[in-house]
Amino acid sequence: MPARNIEGSSPKIILELPSARASAEVSLYGATVTSWKIDGRELLMVSKNAILDGSKAIRGGIPIVFPQFGVAQAPSPMAALPQHGIARISTWEYLGILTDNEKEISVRFGLKDTQIAKHRNLWPNSFRLHYTVTLSSDGSFSQRLNVKNEGSDTFEFNTLLHTYFEVSDISKVKVRGLKNFSFFDKVHAQRGIEKSDSITIAEEVDRVYEKVDNNTIEIDCGDHLMRIEKNNFKDVVVWNPWVDKSKQMADFGDEEYKHMICVEVGNVAAYHKLREGESWEGRQTLRLI
Ligand code: BG6
Repeated sequence: MPARNIEGSSPKIILELPSARASAEVSLYGATVTSWKIDGRELLMVSKNAILDGSKAIRGGIPIVFPQFGVAQAPSPMAALPQHGIARISTWEYLGILTDNEKEISVRFGLKDTQIAKHRNLWPNSFRLHYTVTLSSDGSFSQRLNVKNEGSDTFEFNTLLHTYFEVSDISKVKVRGLKNFSFFDKVHAQRGIEKSDSITIAEEVDRVYEKVDNNTIEIDCGDHLMRIEKNNFKDVVVWNPWVDKSKQMADFGDEEYKHMICVEVGNVAAYHKLREGESWEGRQTLRLI
């Protein structure tokens, strides 16, 4: 079975592509990818303390940020939304298999405003999200997010794929492809321009690189190399909570910052506007090289 539907308290879809010796798992809660393996090796990081029962956003994998990145300040109409919006804390619908052959297994998930009764008053727009995840025989794993305005009022949104990559030792990690791009440093509340072509992590890092028109970012994870190809996502966030922040997060182990890095593609520095009937689509392809 290339795509299995696992019911229970944490329903999820499991994808398997034997020709690439690859598999992935997607929780219906948040349509959060919670695993991507090649040859049995896990490439995404999910905290051992992650809560998977739908009572809190899943700490790890690939949570989807929508329609707000971080929190907005009043009087913005987005100020009522919780941190990183509502997509990651809503239960999505499994829309089924799109392709299923030796070369590719692809499944789709959907979320509409009518399915988010609990949060609808916080963001009363008519929208439809389609999220397609694909395992390919070339070893890649891609995620395609499509946002459609199904109402008559224009709305604005942020979105981001908040990918947590598994690394064996954060001190050996290097992120490449962000040199010369300007960023906002959320830890020190200041702006900067990236000078390094090989970013290393030795303290809390929380930076939003803006308008990154280089569409390939590489993470040298020490013992493997991960390539991120992005399409139609403008910004890139690099995050590692380091020591103190890790201790403050109940759903994250104190030492787990040593074994992860978030490199997140999105549209977060500015809102994207959609008029009646318009849609937007962004794609990320991950490749172990
Ligand atoms: C990152 C933000 O994208 O997500 C950080 O830049 C934030 O500021 C992090 O701390 C995790 O957010 P959360 O809501 O999942 O704890």
